[in-house]
Amino acid sequence: MSAKVISGNEVSQQLKDEMKEEVVQLKAQGLEPSLAVILVGDDPASKVYVLNKKKACEYIGIRSLETKLPADTTTEQLLEVIDGYNKDKSVHGILCQLPLPKHIPETKILRSILPEKDVDCFHPFNVGLISIGEVRFLPCTPAGVIELIKRGGFQTAGQDVIILGRSNIVGRPLSNMLDQRDMNATVTMCHTKTKNLKQRCLEADIIIAAIGVPEFLKGDMVKEGAVVIDVGINRVDAPGTEKGWKLVGDVEYDAVKEKAAAITPVPGGVGPMTIAMLMKNTLTAAKETMK
Ligand code: GUN
Repeated sequence: MSAKVISGNEVSQQLKDEMKEEVVQLKAQGLEPSLAVILVGDDPASKVYVLNKKKACEYIGIRSLETKLPADTTTEQLLEVIDGYNKDKSVHGILCQLPLPKHIPETKILRSILPEKDVDCFHPFNVGLISIGEVRFLPCTPAGVIELIKRGGFQTAGQDVIILGRSNIVGRPLSNMLDQRDMNATVTMCHTKTKNLKQRCLEADIIIAAIGVPEFLKGDMVKEGAVVIDVGINRVDAPGTEKGWKLVGDVEYDAVKEKAAAITPVPGGVGPMTIAMLMKNTLTAAKETMK
């Protein structure tokens, strides 16, 4: 079997087109959704992410505000900027791009964003809501994974799902989302200390790889007909290529593709979905203000 390739580029484009139409309606009702993005320092990857978020906002019709601060910004100065956006009623979503410079405590900053404007869904209040099934926002990357499974034509109800990786950003919230009553999956979280990992993977209907190890999931760890979602994005040496490096996921793509029913590529899989789901959260935040 050669797997169906679920394209995050295509699915995210569909979602953005749907949201673009919705924004036209919202604007006709007098609501202009808006997202404020804060970037501290000059990490090159963060600059690219922030630019892509701005482009997505422009495409959909979301007003985007941006505050760029130097790397030596103090915690108090950053808190002041967030406080300004918290108080500004015309701003619906606030995102502080990570990683922050080392002298700024990330948790303190993320907790200072009002939960109703926390479109990343990193605030413990919003994380807690997910675990009791009262969702306001869904964290962007996990929500993107679930959307890819659904729009790829696969269901989660009754399926055995293995999640490789227990990060607060991906693995843990995914586990919380997938075993809720609307998803009905049976979830096993695996990590570096898990016993019989290969055997567990071989029994899974769906495997989500978010472990941060290049090409960790091999072809002989996947059963025929499984659905494999690759959240990893790793830069590895590629001697002889123009750049000298390439991007690979946490899945050994060519080998797993021969076994799986469906697989997501890297790049062009989960990556573009994260931004689309951020846009979706921004619309949710904006619409909440109309209630
Ligand atoms: N840095 C890399 N990914 C993300 C993300 O999804 N949100 C924020 N705030 N920072 C990031």
